[in-house]
Amino acid sequence: MERLKNKIVFITGASSGIGKSTAIEFAKNGANLIITARRIERINELADFIRKEYAVKVLPFQLDVRNYKLVKNVISNLPSEWQNIDILVNNAGMGRGLNKLYEDDVNGWEEMIDTNIKGLLYVSREIIPLMVKNQNGHVINIGSIAGHEAYGGGAVYCATKHSVTAITRSMRIELLDKGIRVSTIDPGMVETEFSLVRFYGDSEKAKNVYKGLTPLSADDIAEAVIFCATRPKHANINEMIIMPSQQANAFINFRKG
Ligand SMILES: NC(=O)c1ccc[n+]([C@@H]2O[C@H](COP(=O)([O-])OP(=O)(O)OC[C@H]3O[C@@H](n4cnc5c(N)ncnc54)[C@H](OP(=O)(O)O)[C@@H]3O)[C@@H](O)[C@H]2O)c1
Repeated sequence: MERLKNKIVFITGASSGIGKSTAIEFAKNGANLIITARRIERINELADFIRKEYAVKVLPFQLDVRNYKLVKNVISNLPSEWQNIDILVNNAGMGRGLNKLYEDDVNGWEEMIDTNIKGLLYVSREIIPLMVKNQNGHVINIGSIAGHEAYGGGAVYCATKHSVTAITRSMRIELLDKGIRVSTIDPGMVETEFSLVRFYGDSEKAKNVYKGLTPLSADDIAEAVIFCATRPKHANINEMIIMPSQQANAFINFRKG
């Protein structure tokens, strides 16, 4: 897609799942990428793969979005040719546990709030001024169906994703006259490492989440991101909710077998 050729795209959480697929999809379309996550070996591997396969430029960084000092440092020290960021994909995120609030481990809450809300805010705080300076840009947040509905066992995760919905809507108002578009893509069930992380590495529990249905793939969401990013300048996708066909809402699924 010509519209993405030579654009600069900054992606958080590109070491796995939706972030990784999104990076590859942008590269296929000729965009240059700044890819980040905590697991730097995976990020470096992805950078090598993308450079070889798609002949675009890639700048890999280790970045923990929960660390504001680090976020500020990485973004303010970007080489000048990488500072004109066209698209920011705020994708880094995670869930922890599926327990009732009154029985839950508060450490998981801190992780979700620090990553899904504060991390997204920190990265946006540092990148949006570069876009404002250029009067050009597109922020694409990865929210969730949990940003529109609440389910038992998900009080804090749902609260963080409702926050993403609210932040996205506020950003859109603030950036309306700055030539910067703001979108959110809100998936239902996507089979990635998300459930493995949510259940602290318990692969049996993670597998059961998708039992009897065909979940979305990370590529399905990457395609939606590309669709959003390639609308003509006068059009914006505000919010896109995308679900597996066998999922009606955050808690009603049709499982076979
Ligand atoms: N899978 C689903 O069903 C689903 C549904 C709706 C929304 N989402 C959202 O989609 C986004 C991507 O999740 P996914 O499904 O692709 O899961 P995933 O495969 O577990 O990927 C999560 C990514 O976020 C990164 N990340 C986590 N904590 C981070 C931190 N503190 N700093 C920087 N990066 C961090 C991880 O990288 P490192 O561990 O290397 O840092 C990883 O690259 C999340 O925002 C999630 O809430 C997922």
